[in-house]
Amino acid sequence: MTRAQVFSSEIVEKARSIVARYPQSRSALLPMLHLVQSVQGHVSQEGIDFCAEQLGLSEAEVSAVVTFYTMYKRRPCGEHLVSVCTNTLCAALGGDAIYARLSEQFGVGHEETAGEPGEPGSITLEHVECLAACDLAPVLQVNYEYYDKQTPESAAELVAALRRGEKPAPTRGAPLSDFKGAELQLAGFFPEDEETYRSEVDGRSQAVETLRGAALARDRGWTAPVMEDVPLPEVGTK
Ligand code: FES
Repeated sequence: MTRAQVFSSEIVEKARSIVARYPQSRSALLPMLHLVQSVQGHVSQEGIDFCAEQLGLSEAEVSAVVTFYTMYKRRPCGEHLVSVCTNTLCAALGGDAIYARLSEQFGVGHEETAGEPGEPGSITLEHVECLAACDLAPVLQVNYEYYDKQTPESAAELVAALRRGEKPAPTRGAPLSDFKGAELQLAGFFPEDEETYRSEVDGRSQAVETLRGAALARDRGWTAPVMEDVPLPEVGTK
């Protein structure tokens, strides 16, 4: 397949609209790479060349970014990306056990795929660093949507449902899409029926646990001290 066949005129148009968001075209690289993943499910050599061409960068500059960030995948992902937090708090509360259970039950290790990549019901497993939801540990994400307070059993049921082609609702946040759909959103493109989509997201984004500190402070009349203005050092001084 040629690059023009992989990246259709519609994708080129989207790429140009991403570039137009920024004063300098090179600033568009991160969302451009998400756009590439929305097409191919990973960043291929064609994807690197496409970004370099659209942004006037060298292949080496694009590759350096792709290989730095773990959200850019060099191998094709499954229909769903399952990310299990195994950082300290989640690990202590069961994250390691969840990862081990999924790995054993579905026969895959880190960044390996059960099923044919991209085919319905295929999943790619990975263990990841803190997902910024420690108050709801242990957590995992599917295509970056949260499933809070998991157990090895609930996580295995969730992934088995994904393998059957189902899309169980996340605990909060946006409705579950597939990996390519999530990548398109990360590139800044949302479903056509944006109003309905946003109302669903708005309805389920807050977790009581996350707001507990704010609620306690409100009930007890606590406020944060006002920070004094600290003058910034002059540019060029130590
Ligand atoms: S340690 Fe898992 S979300 Fe922070």
